[in-house]
Amino acid sequence: MLRALTREVSPTIANCELEFLDRQPIDLALAVEQHRQYQACLAELGVHVEVLPPAPDMPDGVFVEDPAIVLDEIAVITRMGALSRRGESETLARALAKYRELRHIVEPGTLEGGDVMRVGKTLYVGYSRRTNVAGIQQLATMLHPLGYFVVPVEVRDCLHLKTACCYIGNDTVLANRAWMDPDALCSLKILDVPSDESRGANALRLGDTVLMPAAFPRTRELLERSGFRVLTIDNSELLKAEAGVTCTSLIFDAP
Ligand code: GLY
Repeated sequence: MLRALTREVSPTIANCELEFLDRQPIDLALAVEQHRQYQACLAELGVHVEVLPPAPDMPDGVFVEDPAIVLDEIAVITRMGALSRRGESETLARALAKYRELRHIVEPGTLEGGDVMRVGKTLYVGYSRRTNVAGIQQLATMLHPLGYFVVPVEVRDCLHLKTACCYIGNDTVLANRAWMDPDALCSLKILDVPSDESRGANALRLGDTVLMPAAFPRTRELLERSGFRVLTIDNSELLKAEAGVTCTSLIFDAP
């Protein structure tokens, strides 16, 4: 069964970390409602959604993709680059322990799941403000015996690798190549987001559907013209928290 681990929006989301965006007021009630619609959308796409309670002491806690990487064999609990977010890792470890054997990124490594883009047995890992070389090396060493190949990718001017690009199936990566090194993507095809929708590359492939924010209609047109089935959600409030559609769930197979 495909499962999505999610967490409710924290009442302190207004104090979230921001790296490249200016702080704007976030409507908490609307953020909560939009996140419920996102969860409902995952459920409609056939995913069993598990919801962790909101954490007032973790403003960014809704972004469950960052504290853990769930693979078929194990889950890697990350050591977050953002100091204020380090406590999230332990809560995700508790939630994931029933599904996977756990491994941990340790000091001096830092790594956030938003920097990890998986294509089969290859993990493209962003070298970003939040993920350092030691974190990438630890991940590569940990996963080599399981047959995974880790490819570092330079990320610039945006939070995470998956802010800059996401794998959307059919050997295709939706990307803003100004924010990452496209040469690292080897033989994958790149679909360039329209220049006026620089944040449009964060999209989530589920089954035969690509889920993406309604805020980027030209990117939606591009995907549809390219043969993808697209579903949009309004996530205007969490977009202000430097989020996308991948970072608000951890999706994996488990009975
Ligand atoms: N607000 C998301 C992050 O900076 O981690």
